[in-house]
Formats: sequence, C-alpha cells, structure tokens
Amino acid sequence: MEIREAVFDDWEKLLEWVNSPESLSNKKLTVQTILESDHKRWLESVLGTDNIHLFMILDQDQPVGQMRFQEQGQQSASFVIDIYIEQVFRGRDLAFKALTAGMQRLRKLHAPSALIFVAVVKTTNTASLSLFRKLDFILDKEDADFSTLKTYG
Ligand SMILES: CC(C)(COP(=O)(O)OP(=O)(O)OC[C@H]1O[C@@H](n2cnc3c(N)ncnc32)[C@H](O)[C@@H]1OP(=O)(O)O)[C@@H](O)C(=O)NCCC(=O)NCCS
Repeated sequence: MEIREAVFDDWEKLLEWVNSPESLSNKKLTVQTILESDHKRWLESVLGTDNIHLFMILDQDQPVGQMRFQEQGQQSASFVIDIYIEQVFRGRDLAFKALTAGMQRLRKLHAPSALIFVAVVKTTNTASLSLFRKLDFILDKEDADFSTLKTYG
C-alpha cells in the first residue's frame, strides 16, 4: 500500500468513487450524483488550496481508493476525514494503513502543531465506525444519524 497526493488526471477515478451509490448514501452533505463539470471545478479548487489534502491510495501501483483531510474553518489544525476504498479491495487493512500513513504525513507537514482528526460517520456504517475505533478515535458526539469521532495529537 502506498499513498500519493492526487493530481488533476485522477478526476475520472475520483468521480466514479464519489458517485457510487453507497458513497453517496454514507455522506452527510453530498447526496446527489455529481456532474463531471462540477467535479472538475471542485478538484481544481481542492488541488489549489492548502487546507485540503487529497490522497490516492494505491495497491501495487493501482489506485484503489482515496482519502481526504479537510481543515475545519473555525478550529485550526482540525481535519475532517473522508475515505473510500473500492469494494473488491476491502477487508485487507488498506484503509487502516492508508489513514495511519496519511495522518502521519499531515502531522509532519503541520509540526509542531498538535492536530485533531475528525470523522463524521453514519451510525449504520459499522465498517467505518470500527475502522476509526481501531485507529483510536473516540466518540465525541452522536445524533440519530451520525456519530462524530475524534483523535488528538
Ligand atoms: C470504511 C472503508 C473505508 C473500510 O475500508 P477497508 O480497507 O475495507 O478497511 P480495513 O480492511 O483497513 O479494515 C480496518 C478495520 O475496519 C473495520 N472494518 C472494515 N471492514 C469492516 C466490515 N465490513 N465490517 C466491520 N468492520 C469492518 C475493522 O475493524 C477492521 O479491522 P480488522 O480487520 O482488524 O477487524 C470501506 O468499507 C469503504 O470504502 N466504505 C465506503 C465508504 C465509506 O463508508 N467511507 C467512510 C466514510 S468516512
């Protein structure tokens, strides 16, 4: 498993993943299919900003997923995480390894600031909830539909 920063040429894979039905059904904000033109505009803006870090997750040099760390407006050094692994590559520890590597990369980039990582997960998304618990995230808030988990430092 390796991670690398996303580039514009990754747009097609990223669009395919974000528009997968389960990906949309697990999201809090984006619930409708994203158009290619909107997606390209979004990707351009993401790649041009410092407060979003978008990585491709590779297995034997092939892209198998993505993860995004997005700095939260109000609280500096607090990053919300989004991750997606293609279905056939799941259950092989790739998300765990990718997030471990990604959080380490961000800590280095932002040293010496202590970072907070946040995951907003649908309460029915047991795979994701277990993944973040295994990464030592702790439950911060919970409502009927979503749990917010955090890890510090
Ligand atoms: C959540 C997701 C990223 C996990 O990816 P993955 O590569 O399969 O996860 P890993 O193999 O690294 O598993 C790590 C841990 O997550 C948990 N986990 C993963 N898949 C699971 C499943 N189907 N059921 C229960 N727990 C699961 C386990 O605790 C696992 O550790 P273990 O194998 O030692 O028990 C993947 O299922 C996915 O892309 N889902 C759709 C998108 C999504 O929901 N993203 C999260 C929104 S933030």
